[in-house]
Amino acid sequence: MIGWIRQRRSCRKFEPDPVAEDLRALLIEACLRAPTSKNRRPWQFIFVEGAEERFRLSHCKPHGAAFLAEAPLNIVIAAEPRLSDVWVEDCAIAAALVQVTAQSLGLGSCWCQVRLREADDGQPAADVVKEVLALPKGWEVASIIGVGYPAEAKPAIDAGSLPRERCQVRP
Ligand SMILES: Cc1cc2nc3c(=O)[nH]c(=O)nc-3n(C[C@H](O)[C@H](O)[C@H](O)COP(=O)(O)O)c2cc1C
Repeated sequence: MIGWIRQRRSCRKFEPDPVAEDLRALLIEACLRAPTSKNRRPWQFIFVEGAEERFRLSHCKPHGAAFLAEAPLNIVIAAEPRLSDVWVEDCAIAAALVQVTAQSLGLGSCWCQVRLREADDGQPAADVVKEVLALPKGWEVASIIGVGYPAEAKPAIDAGSLPRERCQVRP
């Protein structure tokens, strides 16, 4: 596990090959095993593989979403906020878990923030995603994780450059 964490970097360049079905199944499992407050499981995960939908999702905001068009799998992380007051945290931990799982499977991934972001025309990026995927009323969108076989290799972050001052040990 620590090895995957050490090697983990965001990947925004992907080979065009679709993610193999067995790996996709493991990513689905990782999402559904994520812990949630009070075990409410307020999330909804939409695994998007179609090129046209991915292209439209990549335009949900002007910066930091373009890689979604190239990523053969877009995992849209949404939730029903009526089910939990901490759905944002629940979605975030699912996103982190699926990214580490992707890493462990030799896949690359990158987070695209949707919640609190805006499209070119000023409308919420989440509204664009809701429209593209025809999500039911009452669902909110947290993020989209782009996943695929990496077409770029980034070096691990050097242990010596970690911001150690951000972490205190108080025996
Ligand atoms: C909450 C969150 C939101 C992020 N949003 C975006 C995004 O919208 N677009 C993007 O390209 N990367 C996004 N990232 C990835 C970060 O830019 C990336 O993790 C950071 O620059 C550190 O690089 P590394 O992941 O390679 O260590 C996001 C990451 C997090 C945790």
